[in-house]
Amino acid sequence: MTQLTKSGSFTVMTTSATPLVALRDVNKHFGDLHVLKDINLEIDQGEVVVVIGPSGSGKSTLCRTINRLETIDSGSIQIEGVELPKEGKELAQLRAKVGMVFQSFNLFAHRTVIDNVMLGPMKVRGIKKPEAKNRAMELLKRVGVGNQAQKYPAQLSGGQQQRVAIARALAMDPKVMLFDEPTSALDPEMINEVLDVMTDLAKGGMTMIVVTHEMGFARKAADRVVFMADGAIVEEAEPDTFFTNPTSSRAKDFLSKLITH
Ligand SMILES: Nc1ncnc2c1ncn2[C@@H]1O[C@H](COP(=O)(O)OP(=O)(O)O)[C@@H](O)[C@H]1O
Ligand SMILES: [Mg+2]
Repeated sequence: MTQLTKSGSFTVMTTSATPLVALRDVNKHFGDLHVLKDINLEIDQGEVVVVIGPSGSGKSTLCRTINRLETIDSGSIQIEGVELPKEGKELAQLRAKVGMVFQSFNLFAHRTVIDNVMLGPMKVRGIKKPEAKNRAMELLKRVGVGNQAQKYPAQLSGGQQQRVAIARALAMDPKVMLFDEPTSALDPEMINEVLDVMTDLAKGGMTMIVVTHEMGFARKAADRVVFMADGAIVEEAEPDTFFTNPTSSRAKDFLSKLITH
């Protein structure tokens, strides 16, 4: 989109940037199951999008297509205007651009915490060890586990492990971070320590796609809520609008069930 903006006493013409992530008419099947139906979704630089919806609605599959852990049947997915690469070195580089944090922390069990954070940058980005180590330490401190660096993942609590997983993804300098129910496997008292790290990231300008049932986080940190049901995006709106005035019956039904238990 081209628009005229006032800048001091000048009027300048700016072209708003290509969306950071763009899904166009994306369809995917698992056998007979139509799991993603004509998905159209654009995410701008710095935007935080929370994806919610009933179990089985396709939220995880949607995330997994964006870093090509799943292929799509038709449509297109672009990062910064470039179609997702299919394989090889380009695909590894894409995965570096798209950080992903899963429900299960997926840390390497036989590596120390700091090694977990250093390995990706060294292997995929060719960063030298001392630099990778410094950066890893910086990130571990940022997510509040700097004093756990030499331990093994199993020696940490779930909340600490998930924060390490976030640090590990950030170590690749991703353009966008995907979170797929990052707090669903955590004991209740650890949920907030992870959400706080995510809220800080959001405030710091990170582009984020977050699948979560944590509505407090959605209200506080999201620019936009995307509601999915049966493989389709049924509704999208700013959080306040979505939570106070959902328009579709599916969203109303979903929200009423969330509030009653
Ligand atoms: N690898 C797979 N093979 C076959 N069916 C799958 C696979 N992954 C997910 N599904 C099915 O696709 C649908 C959407 O799953 P998913 O994306 O995990 O939903 P959500 O994350 O919203 O719970 C579900 O019906 C699920 O059973
Ligand atoms: Mg899921």
